[in-house]
Amino acid sequence: MTDKKMILDRVLTGEIARVTERAAVAAARLRGRGDEKAADQAAVDAMRKELNALKIEGIVVIGEGERDEAPMLFIGEEVGTGDGPGVDIALDPLEGTTLTAKDMPDALAVIAMAEGGTLLHAPDVYMDKIAIGGGFADGLVDLDATPEENLNALAKAKGVSVGDITACILDRPRHVKLIEAVRGTGAAVRLISDGDVAGVIHTTNPIDTGIDIYMGIGGAPEGVLAAAALRCIGGQMQGRLVTSNDAQRARAVKMGVEDFERKYSLNELASGDVMFAATGVTDGSILDGVKFGENKIVTDTVVMRSSTGTVRWIKAEHSYTTKFE
Ligand code: FBP
Repeated sequence: MTDKKMILDRVLTGEIARVTERAAVAAARLRGRGDEKAADQAAVDAMRKELNALKIEGIVVIGEGERDEAPMLFIGEEVGTGDGPGVDIALDPLEGTTLTAKDMPDALAVIAMAEGGTLLHAPDVYMDKIAIGGGFADGLVDLDATPEENLNALAKAKGVSVGDITACILDRPRHVKLIEAVRGTGAAVRLISDGDVAGVIHTTNPIDTGIDIYMGIGGAPEGVLAAAALRCIGGQMQGRLVTSNDAQRARAVKMGVEDFERKYSLNELASGDVMFAATGVTDGSILDGVKFGENKIVTDTVVMRSSTGTVRWIKAEHSYTTKFE
């Protein structure tokens, strides 16, 4: 292991949790207030402060938007103290702004860090995604197969009837046909109103989450973040960009996309060694939301590393210090 990699792996494993914890606490203070923007802004400010204290030479490759539309954590922004390893950073300080505004399950503060050049520089467009957990033969499910083929293949591999499979799908008009096709096989559909990073991660633990497969179209940046998590925790995923106008396609081309038909594998979405952290903002199936107690703030975080496959669950009790006051 090179010195550089050792620093990334060892030091950042501890530090990265602070980044999502701080963003989650800031956003959680605005849970249930009906104000998506304020919650998002609080998370962005908090995450940026903590990131800038890290000894890294970080560059945001997936962030809050392009430089002209996002004043902070924009794509290309340099973060960190500048005197550590160079890392690419994909982040979503508040994944599930509406979930937070309505205090609904599974809003997360999320970040992934990887060796430079290894995360797909996904434009802010949609991505068609399919994902399942680990332990299955490669290529068991495929974006180009029909929902029936995918669900039957998964049910067979699990040794269950297709009626015992649950697919998680974003509740959007664009998914009417997909939902019909899934239900037509006898499988169940868990509709979520937002938050497909959590939706994808949920496939890795069907016993706790009740979700076996994620299907459908969500954000492309969220696709890369979810892929980073699956690279660490195990699982399969494919994604294909979905654009609907010339402006989107121009943005994608500017970010290096050459082939709009390309089906990205998990390893193409996140190819190198990657580290992923998420802290619950609202309660969810995998992570609890932030709790504000009499003398302490409690956060629930998961940190994962692809190089070792280590998954750390960190329940942290913070005092009401300046940082969290
Ligand atoms: P925000 O946190 O930006 O509100 O995104 C939430 C989300 O549900 C993502 O999880 C998902 O990928 C995307 O929005 C879906 O986009 P849309 O709401 O346009 O269907």
